[in-house]
Amino acid sequence: MTDQIPAGPLTTEAGAPVADNQHSQVAGVGGPVLIQDQHLIEKLAHFNRERIPERVVHARGAGAYGTFTVTADVTPYTRAAFLSEIGRETEVFLRFSTVAGNLGAADAVRDPRGFALKFYTEEGNYDLVGNNTPVFFVKDAIKFPDFIHTQKRDPYTGSQEPDNVWDFWGLSPESTHQVTWLFGDRGIPASYRHMNGYGSHTYQWTNAAGEAFWVKYHFKTDQGIRNLTADEAAVLAGQDPDSHQRDLRTSIENGDFPSWTVQVQIMPVADAPTYRFNPFDLTKVWPHADYPPIEIGRLELNRNPRNVFAEVEQSIFSPHHFVPGIGPSPDNMLQGRLFAYGDAHRYRVGINADQLPVNRPHAAEARTHGRDGHAYDGRHGGAKNYEPNSFGGPAQTDQPLWAATAVSGLTGDHPAPAHAEDDDYRQAGALYRLMSEDERERLIANLAGSIAQVSRDDIAERAIENFRRADEDYGKRLQAAVQALRG
Ligand code: NDP
Ligand code: HEM
Repeated sequence: MTDQIPAGPLTTEAGAPVADNQHSQVAGVGGPVLIQDQHLIEKLAHFNRERIPERVVHARGAGAYGTFTVTADVTPYTRAAFLSEIGRETEVFLRFSTVAGNLGAADAVRDPRGFALKFYTEEGNYDLVGNNTPVFFVKDAIKFPDFIHTQKRDPYTGSQEPDNVWDFWGLSPESTHQVTWLFGDRGIPASYRHMNGYGSHTYQWTNAAGEAFWVKYHFKTDQGIRNLTADEAAVLAGQDPDSHQRDLRTSIENGDFPSWTVQVQIMPVADAPTYRFNPFDLTKVWPHADYPPIEIGRLELNRNPRNVFAEVEQSIFSPHHFVPGIGPSPDNMLQGRLFAYGDAHRYRVGINADQLPVNRPHAAEARTHGRDGHAYDGRHGGAKNYEPNSFGGPAQTDQPLWAATAVSGLTGDHPAPAHAEDDDYRQAGALYRLMSEDERERLIANLAGSIAQVSRDDIAERAIENFRRADEDYGKRLQAAVQALRG
């Protein structure tokens, strides 16, 4: 990168010239440091404040800008302007991440990868905050903090503990599908470029006539899926902890721009109540045979950020950033996420996080009456800061962004409505049976190596039982492999 501060005198933050940047001012030769050395004090104080809180999950990541291009007519399904015609291009910013590791963690680890995409559309920013897997470990936001506590460091040992991980998964059978994925070959992608992305949740699209559809997004890597074995990853994580980040940056620097083919599955809303399982259950995919993926676009990454802190660390993505024609579904995880991200951004980056260059709308203007806070410009100058007012300025559109959803019954801590095939095991078994015999062997070895580390038999047995319920052969082989390791 060739950015350069202009030549000339080095200055303080206030722009005054600095006489000496090598020696502190002292009271006589060999004497103690003087408080009048404002350059020294400012330098030390600024340094102390360089870090902001890391993301509570997905702390470790890398990002790049690029272009999304529409390749099919989706106007029968959505009125989103950026999807309105074939060939239309929209600037994007994509941040990839791992989930459990802290900011300095190694990239080549077994962990889901985040796939957070910001479309800078003319109707405002649209964020699709997905992962490299189409499903998740739990299906209700109320379980998310407990789940993440088991993935992060134990309060006593300060390390990730297999006991906590397998205790939670064993007691949460809905995790069986995602755990099968995680310990399979795709659990350690070779790089951010060699994996798919998924919106994972079901979202709502609404067309110009106000008709609603349920939709799932898939981003299929054009580089091909490439993974690391557990042994390859252990070596790479030690030799080059920044392997994913370096791969992404250098491939873009070399003009080898990574791309993804974008597909959607579309379900008419009338199908949802009687579909064979809850279509808003994040632990399940919609089988392609039921809702075939339709190709709608191409995503290319072609520009590196100039400053990682400003553009990657301070970037914010939220599932609540919708544009007209796209909205939420009643998925309980998604509903929780609609709150969690904006709240995290206010804590981590501040109330004006949306105003930073990477986060602000690029193809639209924010016309809000929100004011002040730790602000970097006099937003909208002296304009009136309330609405309605008699002096002009922006006003509500009276156009809902998305269609209303029918609800009925009493409030309460209800489970989701029952569907015929709502069990926690069927799709985990389907994934196991879809794997080649070689991959099944690696899956069993990876799982057994992890489960064998737990300190209590009941925790190990409960975990294995979930895999047996997914597929008899799966459970039998896993039990034998764990027994062989535990003796
Ligand atoms: P589907 O035809 O619906 O889905 C098959 C999908 O599985 C393909 O898209 C393929 O993705 C993916 N896949 C292939 N091999 C593997 C693997 N070793 N690990 C992870 N994913 C793989 O088939 P089914 O309805 O029978 O579903 C079987 C299982 O497929 C599901 O339980 C789910 O775990 C998995 N799956 C389903 C997806 C869906 O949207 N229906 C999406 C991704 C996975 P690719 O084309 O990229 O190779
Ligand atoms: C990051 C909460 C589920 C994908 C985060 C952050 C929080 C959070 C607080 C940090 C945000 C920030 O500081 O900027 C939750 C909650 C969930 C949930 C409460 C469940 C209710 C999911 C799911 C996915 C996902 C299901 C994927 C389908 C991501 C990604 C990031 C992230 C990709 C990183 C975004 C970035 O790059 O800045 N999550 N999450 N999360 N989450 Fe979730």
